[in-house]
Amino acid sequence: MELSSLTLHVPKKDKVAGGLDFCQMFSGVLLILFLWAHMLLVSSVLISPKLMNAIAWFFEASYMAQIGGPAIFLLMLAHFLLAGRKMPFKSSELGAFYAQTKLLHHKDTTMWLVQVATALVILVMGSIHMYVVLTDLPITAAKSAARIQDGWIFFYLVLLPMAEIHVGLGFYRIGLKYGWIMRANRGFFQKLENLLMFGFITVGLLTLGRFWLFTV
Ligand code: HEM
Repeated sequence: MELSSLTLHVPKKDKVAGGLDFCQMFSGVLLILFLWAHMLLVSSVLISPKLMNAIAWFFEASYMAQIGGPAIFLLMLAHFLLAGRKMPFKSSELGAFYAQTKLLHHKDTTMWLVQVATALVILVMGSIHMYVVLTDLPITAAKSAARIQDGWIFFYLVLLPMAEIHVGLGFYRIGLKYGWIMRANRGFFQKLENLLMFGFITVGLLTLGRFWLFTV
């Protein structure tokens, strides 16, 4: 392969690029925290549907759902545009990236490709999900269960792992990029990343199971 195509993705080093990178990281951290909080709040149905209803009521009565919902959508869009600067959209870029991935044969590089693929899925499915939920307020356990029993379960069975893989990888990559994760502690953080990913997927699956079995 030509050396010129190997350097296709090397970004320009200037203050603007650094600033945009910081915004990408910061919006990513906010989205990671949102999604973890979201999964825990929705999983409150496992303790009791009444608890989930009370939490949903609080978020709506305080207008956090009505204002926070669209704000999360805009944050997701901004994060996508910021990260999109580096995504290999052109077939030549994708080809070069794929060739590099094979050449380097390193898990962290391969995982970046997974992060790009999951990002595209989340952008579309996350937007549909937010539209459906936020245009059908108030949120109640019974309405969520009816939606899931109506067939949305298949939608969530795709969105759940995609979102958790993306968030888990993102968390790990931020640590690598900003230097907290080094060669010496990489093994520990890889284990933590897997634990968080599988942990949240398990909680998500249990939550979906609870909605599936929900009867009024
Ligand atoms: C503020 C915006 C959001 C609100 C109000 C919200 C609310 C909800 C609600 C009420 C449910 C229960 C199922 C249903 O009613 O259909 C749910 C499930 C779910 N949401 Fe969200 N959501 C939001 C944003 C997101 C985003 C951005 C993602 C990921 C990209 C996401 C991923 C999921 C997944 C995977 C489930 C399945 C439930 C589970 O496995 O625990 N949500 N959400």
